[in-house]
Amino acid sequence: MTKVSPSMLSADFSKLGEELVRVERAGADWAHLDVMDGMFVPNITFGPPVIKAIRRHSDITFDAHLMIQDPARYIGAFLDAGCDIITVHCEADGDIHEAISLIKAGGARAGISVNPETPVEELLPYLGEVDLVLVMTVHPGFGGQSFIAECVPKIAWVREWAEANGRDLEISVDGGVNPETGRICTDAGATVLVAGSSLFRLDDMAPAIAEWKGFGRDL
Ligand code: DX5
Ligand code: ZN
Repeated sequence: MTKVSPSMLSADFSKLGEELVRVERAGADWAHLDVMDGMFVPNITFGPPVIKAIRRHSDITFDAHLMIQDPARYIGAFLDAGCDIITVHCEADGDIHEAISLIKAGGARAGISVNPETPVEELLPYLGEVDLVLVMTVHPGFGGQSFIAECVPKIAWVREWAEANGRDLEISVDGGVNPETGRICTDAGATVLVAGSSLFRLDDMAPAIAEWKGFGRDL
């Protein structure tokens, strides 16, 4: 089944704990936490103290997406805050191999993400080390943008690489995901759908999450 990871970037930040419970009760598999530093991307969101505070509200898997420079500096803090999956960008400054090894040494799952303008081959140095690949289908920094369809072949490329190399990789897609674009991504081989605006604008996101879980080419 396809996993669904609602992006808390579209939640009401004044009540993040309650929003997390809403997502969990709606049947989400993971909660996607977008961390932005104002350097790697032109926006600032939240960091380890906020994640640690909302961790007390739910046991759902925390899927942290670090859009930050030199992520290795902060892996310890994100592990301590209770992140279960920590994804870093291949375009970020600093030693990305070190960041991945710190994530795994801390007992979390490690992900590598690729921006729309970056060739997918730039993931190659990391694919043998990670548990998840996060394919960006918008330019990171803001929710509510339109899906960039030109990124879809990257999903198929990663899926083929994983099958050819016997790796059980989660392939997650982030940005502009809705029922239509989500199905395109799962048809291409995505195993996780991240979505902010298209889920949070619904009064009840449970039916959508249930529907999306049924997407996928293995069904
Ligand atoms: C973008 C973030 C996404 C974002 C997705 O920088 O990484 O996770 O919240 O939002 P939507 O689904 O609205 O494009
Ligand atoms: Zn994200």
